[in-house]
Amino acid sequence: MNVYDSERIAEALKPLKYQETSDLKRADLVIVNTCAIREKAEQKVFSFLGRLAGLKRKNPDIIIGVGGCVAQQEGEKILERVPHLDVVFGTHAISRLPKIIQRVEIKKCRIVDVETITTIDEFEAVRDSVDEGKVARFVTIMRGCDNYCTYCVVPYVRGGERSRNPEHIIEEISGLVDKGLREVTLLGQNVNSYGKKQGLCSFSELLYRINEIEGLLRVRFTTSHPKDLSDALINAFKELPKLCNHIHLPVQSGSNKILERMNRKYNRQQYLEKVDKLRRVKPDIAISSDFIVGFPGETPADFEETLNLIRQVRYDSLFAFKYSDRPNASASQLSAKVPEWEKKVRLQRLLDLQEDITLKKNRSLVGSTQIILVEGFSKKQSSKVRESRPPADLQWMGRTSTNKVVNFFQDETDASGNEMLTGRLVHVRIENGFSHSLWGKPVHVEPSAIVWKGVESDAA
Ligand code: 5AD
Ligand code: SF4
Repeated sequence: MNVYDSERIAEALKPLKYQETSDLKRADLVIVNTCAIREKAEQKVFSFLGRLAGLKRKNPDIIIGVGGCVAQQEGEKILERVPHLDVVFGTHAISRLPKIIQRVEIKKCRIVDVETITTIDEFEAVRDSVDEGKVARFVTIMRGCDNYCTYCVVPYVRGGERSRNPEHIIEEISGLVDKGLREVTLLGQNVNSYGKKQGLCSFSELLYRINEIEGLLRVRFTTSHPKDLSDALINAFKELPKLCNHIHLPVQSGSNKILERMNRKYNRQQYLEKVDKLRRVKPDIAISSDFIVGFPGETPADFEETLNLIRQVRYDSLFAFKYSDRPNASASQLSAKVPEWEKKVRLQRLLDLQEDITLKKNRSLVGSTQIILVEGFSKKQSSKVRESRPPADLQWMGRTSTNKVVNFFQDETDASGNEMLTGRLVHVRIENGFSHSLWGKPVHVEPSAIVWKGVESDAA
């Protein structure tokens, strides 16, 4: 969500006189986008803002702004806490940002805008000039959340659930495909309830429509609330060729007592039934999840149930966090807090268990051939290599449909030749499996004019 918002902020500021720089010391305008979901993320914001004081001392004309969830939550208080800050703008104020910056430039004043009125324009605007040529990107289909999980700040900082009009979503994705997009991840706090409130189409219907977009190769989505995972959506995994073979299905805990205290509205059994259904439809579907350890009242026995659930489901990967109190979230009022050291121990046990499972799963793929969509050069080389024609031994990075990162060398002597591979589907024979990625050798590159469901389309 935040990556997407940062792009929207950059987009909104384009009409102003500024140019992007990667060198903070040369900046005349610094906008910090923030996340309030966990306490640690929020602490990082304040230490980063603190470090910007030196920039303001050297260049008093620099404009420093902070946006996103922390800004929404703290409002004016941030100006008091950070004296060198000029602008605080909330999650609903992105479209107003250019005007805010212009006022600060002229009047040299400090401005706070955490108004929660979202104009139709802001939410529905089709962005047609975003960075061209990106192979994979996020597109927001809905915002906000009505679920009120007791630990979560989102409904307070992002507001209630609103879905975008399907026509606008399709228009945006089609426009991006014309500029090189091949894989889209549909984004929302709970995509499974897309459209319900406004009586738009259902989420699975939206997926069927997106599947028809010519030239788009892959569709992903995140995040799914298990309580709203419908049979229609489960079936879509079988029927839609472009829908990737992966679902992120956050469970948070394996203990029914804790799930109830979290207000998740499903129990362990119901969750496991959904996992079974998914695997009946797609036996090799990759499943990932989010976990919170040390939720108030979580006993060692509750935590063991969480570990057992992980052993039972055998996730492909997961994210796990130590519980932290958030402002407004009702769990902060719950007693029986788990001490910090204990949360740390539990987190490590959980991560160790999952690492073992991930490693075994990844190693089991050695010898298989996976089709990966190449996103670009692997991280190690992306900053060094800029030429249009890649040298031999170039390291590329892509993902499998199951969302596993695969790196491989391109060598003039093998099947990948010396073409630019970004945006291409490459068949890679897996030679090694690690805990966060796979390594392999390319055996075939699909032609750039691909045939998809009988439709000829141009793949980069
Ligand atoms: N403490 C710890 N983790 C949290 N998450 C959300 N709120 C909290 C909190 N207060 C985690 C959940 C969620 C993920 C995005 O962040 O696991 O799925
Ligand atoms: Fe937060 Fe729960 Fe909504 Fe997810 S579903 S954003 S955890 S309130």
